[in-house]
Amino acid sequence: MTNEFPKDFLWGGAIAANQVEGAWNVGGKGLSVADIASYKPHVDNKDYAAHMHISTEAINEAAADQTDKWYPKRRGIDFYHHYQEDLALFAEMGFKTLRLSIAWTRLFPTGEEQEPNEEGVLFYEKVFKEMKRLNIEPIVTLSHYEMPLALSLKYNGWVARKVIDDFVRFSTVCFERFGKYVKYWLTFNEIDSIHRHPFTTAGVVPDKSKEGELEQDVYQALHHQFVASALVTKIAHEKIPGCQVGCMLTKLMTYPLTCAPIDVELTLKKNLENNFYADVQVKGEYPRMIKQDLKKRGITIKMAAEDEQILKGHTVDFVSFSYYMSMAESGNPNAERTPGNTVLGVKNPYLPSTDWGWQIDPKGLKIALIELYDRYNVPLMIVENGMGAVDRVEDGKIHDPYRIDYFKAHFRQMKEAIDEGVDLIGYTSWGPIDLVSAGTSQMTKRYGFIYVDADDEGNGTYERLKKDSFDWYKEVIATNGASLAKE
Ligand code: BG6
Repeated sequence: MTNEFPKDFLWGGAIAANQVEGAWNVGGKGLSVADIASYKPHVDNKDYAAHMHISTEAINEAAADQTDKWYPKRRGIDFYHHYQEDLALFAEMGFKTLRLSIAWTRLFPTGEEQEPNEEGVLFYEKVFKEMKRLNIEPIVTLSHYEMPLALSLKYNGWVARKVIDDFVRFSTVCFERFGKYVKYWLTFNEIDSIHRHPFTTAGVVPDKSKEGELEQDVYQALHHQFVASALVTKIAHEKIPGCQVGCMLTKLMTYPLTCAPIDVELTLKKNLENNFYADVQVKGEYPRMIKQDLKKRGITIKMAAEDEQILKGHTVDFVSFSYYMSMAESGNPNAERTPGNTVLGVKNPYLPSTDWGWQIDPKGLKIALIELYDRYNVPLMIVENGMGAVDRVEDGKIHDPYRIDYFKAHFRQMKEAIDEGVDLIGYTSWGPIDLVSAGTSQMTKRYGFIYVDADDEGNGTYERLKKDSFDWYKEVIATNGASLAKE
């Protein structure tokens, strides 16, 4: 076995518009759901649910506030004005690819305009041209937690079927205007996350649902996203010859805490539920067991006559996923719990955790790769992985051996999975440059190889500094992974 990864392996990083761009009210951009996510210094870092809690009252208060003081995603890291410098740093690391998203509200400020805002289109054209010049292949997410706030307020987001048309119009413009630069497209970031944070993912405001109907509304919104995803997959295939469209799943790997059969059964069900979303997008239909479960729970999804055919007819070309941590499951209600990526799971006694309580599990990544490849038999891409940590600047340097250890261990497991037959075509680390946290809106939860001098309140110069991990990742890419075999 060679120490190198497959030829043409896409090494790179991943960012999202709402967590990096800033310039929330520049160039005709409208408010997105991310622009009203507030930073809550009084809330425990590990309490993701409290960080993400939203109400109509909080939305109105945020929408009326014209400052970015409590809304860090309005500032991001000012990628809007720093994109050339940031892309140059990625190129210096040798990035083959960069995953980024297009802010829907830069092109369609309220989501309902019939023609795009040209200033928004122009911004992304400049970004893609620069990436082309630097030989960085874009992977573009159409929807990454940043839908127009206006659609959320007016229609309760994706609960309304008409939002499919708005999204199709936005996506069609993206394909027509950026198709010459972009071959790889992802439809919805972590489509499964709608159950964990319906507002962020789909503009669904929980207090707008009738009593007892929130779950029903969330499944309806999810169905509309599935249909929209299939429709835009069809349009991308028609408009961009040779393009590849992927789904994107939060891979929440769950293990039984013990071999007690009840632990195994509960774990199996958790994993089936986690795979349900990719099942629909790869196989083109709702799994029978999920349908049965919904029926048992009294949830009826309203489907238009053509929906089944749309889902079946336009499945994705590859599966992409995020992987940060794993957790355990147990039949014992008193089992100790720990937070993960917007989940609370049972603590696994064999695993260490990050400062935010996420359990570090490189082997879990290999297991996920094998499981997903065996289940779907299409190419896989890891489009998010990384470790949120507190970094300290000492004499202008940032020593982050913990980050290097995290990545090294994960990359080695990727290589093992590839050697065992998994078709993994790319890897983009999450937040190759520090950015605003999706869950907590913090800057101090840092993922990058590149440090950004900004704090949670937005103080700082926004200067970019290379961490120790910068050179380390650069060598991994330059040697196509062969350097991982060292020590
Ligand atoms: C993923 C999201 O779930 O996790 C990203 O797609 C997010 O947007 C990442 O940033 C890490 O989560 P957090 O809360 O640490 O930013």
